[in-house]
Amino acid sequence: MNQSEYLKIIKLAKTAVSEYRNWGEDEIVTEQIIQPKIVKGGQKMQSKNIEQAKNAEQQLNELKEKIINCSKCPLGKTRLNAVFGSGSAYADIMFVGEGPGYQEDHEGQPFIGRAGNLLTKIIEAMHYTRDSVYIANIVKCHPMQNPENPELRSNDRPPTPQEMSACHPYLDEQIKIINPKVIVTLGASSTRALLKTEELMGKLRGNFHEYNGIKLMPTYHPAALLRNPNLKKDVWQDMKKVMALLGKKA
Ligand code: SF4
Ligand code: URA
Repeated sequence: MNQSEYLKIIKLAKTAVSEYRNWGEDEIVTEQIIQPKIVKGGQKMQSKNIEQAKNAEQQLNELKEKIINCSKCPLGKTRLNAVFGSGSAYADIMFVGEGPGYQEDHEGQPFIGRAGNLLTKIIEAMHYTRDSVYIANIVKCHPMQNPENPELRSNDRPPTPQEMSACHPYLDEQIKIINPKVIVTLGASSTRALLKTEELMGKLRGNFHEYNGIKLMPTYHPAALLRNPNLKKDVWQDMKKVMALLGKKA
């Protein structure tokens, strides 16, 4: 094939792509024709173009390297694994919890213990999957009551304000890279840190707030739901508001 034939084919392909885009099919086209590998776990990219997407994955990987090597606060000395976050770099929803617990510290993944299983159920009830949203924490390393013994169960504690402010810039970078449409803060630690308030969860949850220009919905932490299942209905009300904002039916 000579150069002009080659250019003609590229032009035809570009026209076809822009026609699909006019029909709102740009995700399908970019997934299937241009870059099939970018979409993990069968997830469709969510309303972001492919260049942003590639960049976002790369940027998250670079940030992850920094966190793995971080010792900006004392938690860095006692953790087994830093827990960066998981999910899609193109997520529309970002869930932000408090900090890794025993199991997360051991495996380096967020929300994989009992509270994590409940969070997974909530995400699935919203017609998403763990891979299509993003899950992170306000601190990336396990806050322990007895930091001498990471093998102890029930050794968790909330992060201190100092630990949270040391780690907060990493979360801000994650938010900037992913640029979600909604942030859902789980529990008082992340909610209060992001909204810079001491207000009670009962007052804060259920209404949209804003963080760096992004809608933020505070709701109860799944661990609180395990202790008090009556709170489940409140969380579901809050998640229905998030779904409505994203144009999803409950
Ligand atoms: Fe660094 Fe955050 Fe871990 Fe502290 S909690 S050592 S700031 S990554
Ligand atoms: N609780 C959290 O807040 N985050 C986790 O990753 C696990 C449990």
